[in-house]
Amino acid sequence: MAISNPALPMVRKAVFPAAGLGTRFLPATKAQPKEMLPLVDKPIIQYGVEEVLESGLDNIIMITGRGKNSIEDHFDVSFELERILAEKGKNELLAVVREISDMLHIAYVRQKEALGLGHAVLTVRELVGQEPFAVLLADDVIDAAVPVLRQMLEVYAATGHSVIAVEQIPGEAISSYGVVRVEPWDETRFSGPVFRVLDLVEKPRPREAPSDLAVVGRYILTPGIFEFLETTPRGAGGEIQLTDALRGLARHEPIYALRFQGRRHDTGDKLGFLKATVELALKRADLGAAFRQYLQNLPL
Ligand code: UTP
Repeated sequence: MAISNPALPMVRKAVFPAAGLGTRFLPATKAQPKEMLPLVDKPIIQYGVEEVLESGLDNIIMITGRGKNSIEDHFDVSFELERILAEKGKNELLAVVREISDMLHIAYVRQKEALGLGHAVLTVRELVGQEPFAVLLADDVIDAAVPVLRQMLEVYAATGHSVIAVEQIPGEAISSYGVVRVEPWDETRFSGPVFRVLDLVEKPRPREAPSDLAVVGRYILTPGIFEFLETTPRGAGGEIQLTDALRGLARHEPIYALRFQGRRHDTGDKLGFLKATVELALKRADLGAAFRQYLQNLPL
């Protein structure tokens, strides 16, 4: 069931920017997208798609680029594979494969050059139109009892404004993130504390970080963001940064930040990917016990 407030435009569309180069994961990402690397037995991006569906949205727009065709193939019908599985009587596997293509309809947009996350989001302006929409960065896989997008939709339904997911990051590691300057707004009504965003900085030096709250890969954005993306010059790393456009938006309309409940894995990073693989495998009913036993017997 979608969370909505009849007085507000509904969030119906979820956008997955997946046109990045994935340089942190080379050489694995030379010829295959990082979004298709398997976490246990599902590609990374499928975790995000399932989060969207469990949050009550089923309208997905994927932003892809060169070398990303396997993402489209994964969510498409595979007649040949289905025929072979059916002929061999492998009905359980057939159901798994069908479930993916039956899940939803996906629109694909190509970002011709990887000019940054902000630039990627701008490519969906026509498809999104004048509606609020969600953006999910698939490599942030978040294991949560209540899907994080759903937690954020509750804040949107109460405020009618943009909502970004934030996580407390201790120490120097904060410099790898967009960081928010905030004031407290509501401590109790939502799944975690909600703040009003006053400003944002992309990858600050540790001593210059305005807080220890880092922006992670989940956003609900009002369509007003597009105007700021259009005029945002190239920032850190020569890319058009979504953080810079959010900064502009924050000066014109309220933006809220939710410190969500859940465990986030940065699977775009090699160590983060390994940790996610271990933790998710340990939680699996079919693999967890045997995998735990294997790990316990390793001479660490
Ligand atoms: P990242 O910062 O993780 O960059 O992008 P990346 O290129 O994917 O990976 P690294 O850092 O080189 O290893 C954050 C998100 O924005 C998307 C990425 O696909 C990822 O989901 N993105 C980034 C685009 O869609 N287009 C871009 O031009 C840049």
